[in-house]
Amino acid sequence: MKSRAKAKTKARRGLGRGVALVGAGMSKFGSFPEKAGRDLFFEAFQELRASVDKGLDPEAIEALYLGNYSSDLFEGQGHTAPIIADWLGLTPRSATRIEDACASSGVALRQGVIAIASGLYDVVLVGGVEKMTALPTERVTDVLATGGDALFEIPAGFTFPGFYAAMATAYIHRYGAPLEALMRVGIKNHEHGALNEKAQFNLTIRQIMENKLAKAKAQGRPLPSWADELEFLRDDSANPVIAWPLRLFDCSPISDGAAALLLVAEERAKEFTDEPVYIIGSGQASDGALHSRSELTSIRAAKLAAQEAYAMAGVGPQEIKLAEVHDCFTIAEIIATEDLGFFPPGEGWKAAMEGLTSLRGPKPINPSGGLKAKGHPVGASGAAQVVELWKQLRGQAGPRQVRGEPDLGLAHNVGGTGQTCVVHIFRRG
Ligand code: COA
Repeated sequence: MKSRAKAKTKARRGLGRGVALVGAGMSKFGSFPEKAGRDLFFEAFQELRASVDKGLDPEAIEALYLGNYSSDLFEGQGHTAPIIADWLGLTPRSATRIEDACASSGVALRQGVIAIASGLYDVVLVGGVEKMTALPTERVTDVLATGGDALFEIPAGFTFPGFYAAMATAYIHRYGAPLEALMRVGIKNHEHGALNEKAQFNLTIRQIMENKLAKAKAQGRPLPSWADELEFLRDDSANPVIAWPLRLFDCSPISDGAAALLLVAEERAKEFTDEPVYIIGSGQASDGALHSRSELTSIRAAKLAAQEAYAMAGVGPQEIKLAEVHDCFTIAEIIATEDLGFFPPGEGWKAAMEGLTSLRGPKPINPSGGLKAKGHPVGASGAAQVVELWKQLRGQAGPRQVRGEPDLGLAHNVGGTGQTCVVHIFRRG
């Protein structure tokens, strides 16, 4: 019997002491046949070390919390946290793997925050890693599907594109959103990804289209008559349907990658940098699998996690200057912008159509390119969102820097179809 007890949540939670982010780094995202997961995390850690303004002696690190969805099935390597701690020279310190599907490293971050706020540790390394591309797409799809419900969803044929296609269909039916709204999210995130050298796809969709035209011309094949990106995206041969209404360019890719963050107790932040970023809000919630929900057009756990994080931070959605949200599929970004309170229910698609969420719009969403263009090595994605916020809040994001010296950023990381959601809010020091 399933218990549906109403969660009794405290009106407002707080941290026992302040937590600062003082370093962040990520590997390049993409497909790297020659690299194991541990190599990717080492790459992220090297960039993190270089980002600590006053230097980091790894001896100072007291514990590792590592997000990873399934190194077991993707790489044949279980028990991956101590393996990686050893690769980095961190043993015998405590090393813990966190698995919450695609929210694994967002939750690892929260565990690191809790560990410091409790007073247990002062200096903690958190992050995430996933090496997905060693398996063929069909096997990756099966491994990812285990993040759904193995009794009631997988036997019915659900895959992750299928789950989000059901959500997209429900959203379109309820709010009358056109398919172009989904396409606009993909176009925007590829435009942002084109400015990010770490992104798996650092090409705009227009550039991808032009490359295909150039290739057809060079091979003497008839040229498709795409006038612009939208025509390209509407063409079944260029942008095939994966699970209706989601097409190839509505999906995040299969990726390898890692990201790492250095957290310290607030009172020690100045040992590492004069420009820390503070974690001022943290929220997490859970829910049943998609088949058990009455609502497909929003994610309850995301709304609850956001409420908790906003209350802790003492800020509201309108004060957030930029956000990295979990756009595993284009529809997921639209729903996220509503669940986070940036736009009212049913209005997120309009914001996407009007360009409100682009880099130069009033509410920049996914300046990194998001999961769609930057890539989605699932266990690393939550931490990689924070790498972007670290850069943006310190004014170090180069050509994709959000204007106006943003002071508040938000990260929204979803596991599965929303069985786990974690939201963090960051403030420039
Ligand atoms: N977006 C845009 N282009 C993509 C892409 C994506 N997500 N995935 C692959 N491509 C491109 C490749 O670059 C390649 O281009 P090229 O022919 O110009 O070289 C082409 O599409 C074929 O690539 P391939 O790797 O063979 O694609 P695939 O058919 O094996 O996989 C998907 C495509 C959409 C099925 C796969 O990316 C996928 O399963 N994504 C979803 C992952 C997921 O569910 N994650 C968890 C979310 S909760």
